[in-house]
Amino acid sequence: MDEGGYVALSTVEQTTEELVLSFLADGGEDFTSGEALSGKLGLSRTAVWKCVASLRDKGYRIDAVPSRGYRLVEIPDRLTPLELQPLLNTHDLGRTVHYREELPSTNDFAFRLAQEGAFHGEVVITERQTQGRGRRGRNWISPPGLNLYFSAVLRPELPPQRAPELTLVAAVAVAETLREAGGDAGIKWPNDLQIGGRKVAGILTELSAEPEQVHFVILGVGVNLNAKKTDFPPEVAEVATSLAEARGQKVPRALFAAALFTRLEQWLDVHQREGFEPVRSAWRKLSITLGRDVLVKTERREFTGMAEDIDETGALLVRTREGTTERVIAGDVEQLRTQSPHQ
Ligand code: BTN
Repeated sequence: MDEGGYVALSTVEQTTEELVLSFLADGGEDFTSGEALSGKLGLSRTAVWKCVASLRDKGYRIDAVPSRGYRLVEIPDRLTPLELQPLLNTHDLGRTVHYREELPSTNDFAFRLAQEGAFHGEVVITERQTQGRGRRGRNWISPPGLNLYFSAVLRPELPPQRAPELTLVAAVAVAETLREAGGDAGIKWPNDLQIGGRKVAGILTELSAEPEQVHFVILGVGVNLNAKKTDFPPEVAEVATSLAEARGQKVPRALFAAALFTRLEQWLDVHQREGFEPVRSAWRKLSITLGRDVLVKTERREFTGMAEDIDETGALLVRTREGTTERVIAGDVEQLRTQSPHQ
């Protein structure tokens, strides 16, 4: 251990406080003895106690019972590396977190970091965006301290024409994490996450590439976790919801973020190893668009039809009344009936 209180752990450096927290988090509801902690970390019992005291000052609730040890009871509702690192078991994603109280847009910040050489898996997280961006030039309303806004730098081994598949990879990971956390989420093509017909999360991917080679992809994700209707302007409140609203219970944001990073990395690994097919079949199961009548709006035209499937590139296949199959690669779909397989 060096003077600054850092311990080198394989590829990741963790502070002593992060290490104490990971041991306590691993212990779950059980107590971890002071002796075990000091033995594992090579610290004196007094140093462990000081570390626990400093964590309590930062808002962590840690029980200490003589002869039993320490137990982590509550973590503060922040998304700094101190909260996230102990909860993560990813190999790359989120191992480096750039946390800022406020940013115009995490995508813009991550894009600059990537241009300067940021590694695959580095993540930018903020509490509040002043110019959060959505698809097709829209805004992403980002009230402070309630939701999750992050962008990941990805350096996949993919030809540029396959980069759009990553958006569907992310949609599957976000939908599964929302469902695991108690929200009945489905995916509206291409990558809107909805609960009960209202938007709960969105994904914005941006690419830097040459014709033959991807330099990097910025994967930006916004998830409404604890926002209430009153936290949004009226026009957004009408169409948006949050996970807390859907499940009727506040969401611990760091736990949700760690669960999402884990799932996202698992799906990125599957995609890298096995290609798009397993992603496509998971996407189909989570889709609330397939099998529905839709109004398709692209930059050039509007038409209606039945959303039949997505093809091997992720494009939506729509069967029109005239009997033709239209392939939609970019645009918005409006679902014309309210019933769906998931809601
Ligand atoms: C959409 O559904 O229109 C996409 C919304 C994407 C929002 C996220 S929030 C984090 C990241 N930074 C941004 O400026 N946008 C994405």
